[in-house]
Amino acid sequence: MKMRKKILGALLSVAMVATTLVGCGGSATTTNDTATKDASSTTASDSTTGDSTAADTATQEVTTKTEAGGKVGVAMPTQSSERWINDGANMKAQLEALGYEVDLQYAEDDVQMQVSQIENMIASGVNCLVIASIDSSALVNVEAQAKDAGIPIIAYDRLLMDTDAVSYYATFDNKGVGTAIAKYVEDKLDLANASESYTIELFMGSPDDNNAVFLYNGVMEVLQPYFDNGTLVCKSGRTSFEDTCILRWSQETAQQNCENYLTGFYADEDLDICLTAFDGFAYGCKAALEGAGYTAENWPIITGQDAELMATKNIISGKQTMSIYKDTRLLAEKCVKMVQAVLEGAEPEINDTEQYNNGKIVVPSYLCTPVAVDQDNYKTIIVDGGYYTEEQLAE
Ligand code: BGC
Repeated sequence: MKMRKKILGALLSVAMVATTLVGCGGSATTTNDTATKDASSTTASDSTTGDSTAADTATQEVTTKTEAGGKVGVAMPTQSSERWINDGANMKAQLEALGYEVDLQYAEDDVQMQVSQIENMIASGVNCLVIASIDSSALVNVEAQAKDAGIPIIAYDRLLMDTDAVSYYATFDNKGVGTAIAKYVEDKLDLANASESYTIELFMGSPDDNNAVFLYNGVMEVLQPYFDNGTLVCKSGRTSFEDTCILRWSQETAQQNCENYLTGFYADEDLDICLTAFDGFAYGCKAALEGAGYTAENWPIITGQDAELMATKNIISGKQTMSIYKDTRLLAEKCVKMVQAVLEGAEPEINDTEQYNNGKIVVPSYLCTPVAVDQDNYKTIIVDGGYYTEEQLAE
């Protein structure tokens, strides 16, 4: 069936096209490269072995000395997506407030760069490592090195797989993210009582990120019955995780996939739902849909994750339907408690000791709660919660 959705900000759409192109993933490369280069010019060298590598020079390194507490290495995946920039900034600020020295590194989705950054952190004598991995299985050797050196590891947001060197895991309820996205779609279209069918395509996360599989499972737990009874129709036929996952959460690949679906399968019938696992994918779908001539008249439901600033603006203008708000301040807070636990013998807060088996051990975890946001509740959740100001959203 054809979806009819009201769009508030038709006037904004020209500006939105411009801003969307510098969103996450591939299209953002130019912008974020610049940011990275700027940042790397302030590189400090006191935390490295002195074996200068390409990775060292190409990356941001911010090391700050404070009075006491020990040194924490924080390895983050990329600055190409806004959420990780916030995560890094929150972790750094909160650890420094407690007197820890922080070595914060971004590896720009380059797995080898992340390995060498962590090696350098170990060599520089960090007391604890916090790692948000790029490829969660690729760090096994460097994690073993840390363990041998007596350095505890906390997994941040993404589970570290196939290692017994990880002490704790701070994250969001990743399956809960999937169910929240799917339930939003279910409610919005009242799928349980639908008399017509809706077309849907899936854009799932990176196969090397354990979170992506959890999210997919959450989505399917809610939507599988609707695929089975024909309420949801995926014309590309691609509904498995293997067929819909997107390596390294690439916005460009999401856009390409969406373009291919629209050309190949939706020439005669509109696509009603872009069920995406990430705001970056939502930007890619938005660009593809605009390219294919979709307007306010037939704009589909587009889901996302992270409630990035641009995504929230797109929600306000009607170009994205919803996102999953993940308060990275809270995640950092829980993770910092874990750092304190391993360094000072304090008690971290744990609320899951079952779900996160990494292939070697079940990692004690704290799962923060993800919240679906849309036009109706973003003010209460995001603005009143102090995540973004009205001014930021109006820019
Ligand atoms: C995170 C998401 C994020 C995605 C892409 C996942 O591991 O949990 O919040 O959208 O990576 O960066």
